[in-house]
Amino acid sequence: MAEIVLRNLVKTYPGTRSPATDDISLEVRDGEFLVLVGPSGCGKTTLLRMIAGLETPDSGSVQIGGRDVTELPARLRGLSMVFQSYAIWPHMRVRQNIAFGLAMRKTPKAEIDRRVGEAAELLHLTDYLDRYPAQLSGGQRQRVAVARAIVTDADVLLMDEPLSNLDALLRMEFRTELKRIVGKLGTTTVYVTHDQAEALSLGDRIAVLREGRVAQVGPPLEVYDSPADEFVGGFLGAPPMNFLPARVDRADGRTRLRIGDRSTAAPATLGDHPGDEVTVGVRAENIEVFDADGPDRLAARVEVVEPTGAAILLTVDLAGRQLKVQAPPTFRIGPGSPVWLAVDPERLRCYDPADSSAITVSG
Ligand SMILES: Nc1ncnc2c1ncn2[C@@H]1O[C@H](COP(=O)(O)OP(=O)(O)O)[C@@H](O)[C@H]1O
Ligand SMILES: [Mg+2]
Repeated sequence: MAEIVLRNLVKTYPGTRSPATDDISLEVRDGEFLVLVGPSGCGKTTLLRMIAGLETPDSGSVQIGGRDVTELPARLRGLSMVFQSYAIWPHMRVRQNIAFGLAMRKTPKAEIDRRVGEAAELLHLTDYLDRYPAQLSGGQRQRVAVARAIVTDADVLLMDEPLSNLDALLRMEFRTELKRIVGKLGTTTVYVTHDQAEALSLGDRIAVLREGRVAQVGPPLEVYDSPADEFVGGFLGAPPMNFLPARVDRADGRTRLRIGDRSTAAPATLGDHPGDEVTVGVRAENIEVFDADGPDRLAARVEVVEPTGAAILLTVDLAGRQLKVQAPPTFRIGPGSPVWLAVDPERLRCYDPADSSAITVSG
């Protein structure tokens, strides 16, 4: 068992004013793939380095596999790491690079050969074992770094933006590979990225960090569907979640949300507080777009039309606010045209304009 339990971790670097991590508590289950995601500078690397034992917290504790390791040096924590600047040795062949950690531990030669062979197979490096790093592509070099990390059979795998040196296509390919490999190994993994798409695709759960604090933790689609606040809704997703001011209204015994001079049905969980101002959050793909008016539709005007291949992304003006709407690829419309929008009320999320926290978090 190698679950990780982080309790109230605070770390402020000398000479800085605000803490890099500000009272972070998190649990990573045994065998889980947890992604730490958030904008640059939010404390991801600092948190990972505290788990690794490369940074000492000012207060709080780190437990791995039921053991308090807060005071334990990195090499005794039973973990392996892959970092952004994957240091593989240029003067060593792939085989020696992968075997490096095992050789350091004086593992018997036959055992090293067996494990290196297995790791190479898993990472499709078998045919490259006798090459030098300079004779490999970027993606292959990255795979060597991962092979070296997994070959030691550590209880915990820590990765800090391991794909950020790869170009977009390779990133996508390798992301899929990584998911397959880590799934097979079942190693408890903490993975850091600033890329929200990577986080959504890789994590069993994701923890969204903001300014040294955990904004939300949960399964990717749950966090994506029901962001705890406007920051999370805006950070996850491309395009980000739309936010609009609205007013709670009653009509015919039903709760409605007035947006501009029209209104739409409110989600059941909103409750009944006519007159309240709320911020409505809605994802582009949850807005249905029509070229004619109808019941429960909001009137808008198209500003920009951007085909993305699989869909058409419309930027529309709704009551003076810009909104992103995803239309089917067959939808034909030009800028300046009127459109009408409909939203399933259960896809709407409502936030308190005062502090942007969710009024309703429903699945
Ligand atoms: N060695 C350091 N000395 C001083 N400040 C640091 C150091 N490392 C990181 N920081 C600061 O701590 C905050 C969190 O940094 P970091 O954990 O690297 O964020 P992330 O990995 O999310 O980009 C940032 O404000 C950063 O400038
Ligand atoms: Mg970082």
